[in-house]
Amino acid sequence: MTQTIRAAVLREVGAPLQIEQIELTDPRAGEVMVEIEAAGVCHSDLHYLQGDLQCPLPVVPGHEGAGRVISVGPGTSGDISVGDRVALLWRPNCGRCAQCVAGKPIMCELGPVQARSGGLLDGTTRMSADGAPVHHLLGVSCFSERVVVPERSVVRVPDDIPAEIAAIAGCAVITGVGAIRNAIGACSGDPLVVMGAGGVGLAAIMGARLAGASPVIAVDVDTDKLALAARVGAAITIDARDGDVVEHVLAAVPGGAAWVVEAIGRPETVASAFSMLRPGGTVVAVGLGRVGQGFTVPINELVQRQKRIVGSLYGSSIPQLDLPRIFELYRAGHLPLDLLLGERYPLDRVGDSFDALRGGAVGRSIVYPNR
Ligand code: APR
Ligand code: ZN
Ligand code: ZN
Repeated sequence: MTQTIRAAVLREVGAPLQIEQIELTDPRAGEVMVEIEAAGVCHSDLHYLQGDLQCPLPVVPGHEGAGRVISVGPGTSGDISVGDRVALLWRPNCGRCAQCVAGKPIMCELGPVQARSGGLLDGTTRMSADGAPVHHLLGVSCFSERVVVPERSVVRVPDDIPAEIAAIAGCAVITGVGAIRNAIGACSGDPLVVMGAGGVGLAAIMGARLAGASPVIAVDVDTDKLALAARVGAAITIDARDGDVVEHVLAAVPGGAAWVVEAIGRPETVASAFSMLRPGGTVVAVGLGRVGQGFTVPINELVQRQKRIVGSLYGSSIPQLDLPRIFELYRAGHLPLDLLLGERYPLDRVGDSFDALRGGAVGRSIVYPNR
């Protein structure tokens, strides 16, 4: 069976998102249909809108969402039922490939396949318009009233967690907090810098504070974002417009930072992150850049100071374990995620939410696809 839904559709890179009526078919084997309650506006969506990252078009963007299961396909496990509240995951996990078996579901071999095909796990789409396929963004596409996703790409959300919090937990929060917990681990008492105080960076600051990093230093180019960074736990804030960021960090923590989480994704900021490390320090690169973009690593500094650079995707997490933990930390007051929430938009104004993101909106914007 097919139903008509309203969704934001990107038909051409650089073109405005259009709110369209499109067709959504019932979930197939191992899939569920979710009515979206809230969706976060992430910079990675903007990368796709601008063509920094590429996916098949037309596509319904949005990859940070939460909602309620309204139907389940044949052959589902029984773990997820109609009525369950769920957060959506933008990386699939097959549970069978070597990476999944090794406990690294974010590196599941189906991840790049799903991202490139613009379909669900079998490569086909459940959305169409005038008989032509409309693609899924990262298997989620939550700027839409309803979505069909693989059952393994949802995590149950407790009733007392607001939909907005569940939504942002599924990308910004798990990415930022996970970078600290999973890519860094023990950092208590170590100086840690977070570059970029967007949704991801702010979550990393909260995670770093929780892990006891000290001091936690935030770097951004926006006064209001730095003020928010201080509220969520940065002891020191540095405005990158005020001269040399590396010098500022070295003045604050002589010898340099033990850890730098880079949540911007620009060649020059990753290079600065590397320069501000103390010997033996590590850059955890979280921000995505344009396809093919790189930066220069000074070889001798790498070797003689034993510096390290590691990438971390999706918080290097095991979402089925990390998301429930994040919900518990939020509930216990250890992660002040409400402070992350910014402006709210109905689906009709999703385009405005991206203009605001480009313009430096503070906090994570939330889109309500059913309002
Ligand atoms: N120096 C310091 N901060 C900067 C600079 C710079 N040169 N340029 C941009 N910033 C800040 C912005 O002001 C903003 O606060 O980086 C932050 C980026 O935040 P968002 O745009 O909200 O992006 P976010 O959704 O947090 O994602 C960050 O992670 O997953 C990736 O694709 C995503 O590359 C993106 C990154
Ligand atoms: Zn995201
Ligand atoms: Zn796998």
